[in-house]
Amino acid sequence: HEEFTKVKNIATIELGRYEIETWYFSPFPPEYNDGLKLYFCEFCLNFMKRKEQLQRHMRKCDLKHPPGDEIYRSGTLSMFEVDGKKNKVYGQNLCYLAKLFLDHKTLYYDVDLFLFYVLCECDDRGCHMVGYFSKEKHSEESYNLACILTLPPYQRKGYGKFLIAFSYELSKKEGKVGTPERPLSDLGLLSYRGYWTRVLLDILKKHKGNISIKELSDMTAIKAEDILTTLQSLELIQYRKGQHVICADPKVLDRHLKAAGRGGLEVDVSKLIWTPYK
Ligand code: COA
Ligand code: NA
Repeated sequence: HEEFTKVKNIATIELGRYEIETWYFSPFPPEYNDGLKLYFCEFCLNFMKRKEQLQRHMRKCDLKHPPGDEIYRSGTLSMFEVDGKKNKVYGQNLCYLAKLFLDHKTLYYDVDLFLFYVLCECDDRGCHMVGYFSKEKHSEESYNLACILTLPPYQRKGYGKFLIAFSYELSKKEGKVGTPERPLSDLGLLSYRGYWTRVLLDILKKHKGNISIKELSDMTAIKAEDILTTLQSLELIQYRKGQHVICADPKVLDRHLKAAGRGGLEVDVSKLIWTPYK
């Protein structure tokens, strides 16, 4: 319980061209806890206590993007896959950074076991991190996402739904269903609810005739339980003769779709060059 009672130790961070106010405590090594502000290299994510240290670092740091494979590029958006085992320090730095905006997740010190999918906006100065999600290399519980973060200056622009959609595109390529690790934060749950609602109701709208939860799951890589709870919360499920029956009145679907908010940024699957981790 100690993590919950700890007070915020870092008030602000500098990252690229942004100064960002933090939300929560993050367990940085003790020598970093006495200042109010930390300076991050936006490319390797090393952090420093003084501006001059960062300036000196930036003259030496060769990185212009996350240290991994670019697996997606569409316009100015790129996704990089970083293996926590090959890039341990980067993975740890990313976890320290992310914890500043995550309340209840415990940090993964064992970054070896994770892949990090880092979303960037690229320009002539380099690829600037917008957000990321992490994913266990092997999940017994069919988790396809562990942590998700959109950095505050980029929030509410559809990047979160892009990251969620991306995690399901990876699951489709693996031929598996996936689900996010629990517990989800309030904002995490809102984003997932919006994504699930939009994807499922878009299909129900277009589909003629009956469709089962299993079929929806096969089409979307969304785990059956998540489909069931989403449709139940929208009161679109009836239980008849021991079977779930999905209601698909077009007017009802349209009303729910409207309430589910914007679609977010599209993932263009043709731009994803990726083979599953072995
Ligand atoms: N207030 C109300 N609703 C919000 C919200 C806010 N501040 N932020 C997101 N939402 C809801 C909205 O329904 C939004 O859709 P809309 O803009 O079409 O209405 C939807 O979530 C997703 O918005 P989107 O812009 O795609 O997400 P995002 O880039 O802001 O990222 C998170 C969403 C969850 C990744 C982001 O809030 C975040 O990083 N939070 C901190 C870390 C965290 O809690 N992660 C989840 C842990 S499980
Ligand atoms: Na779909």
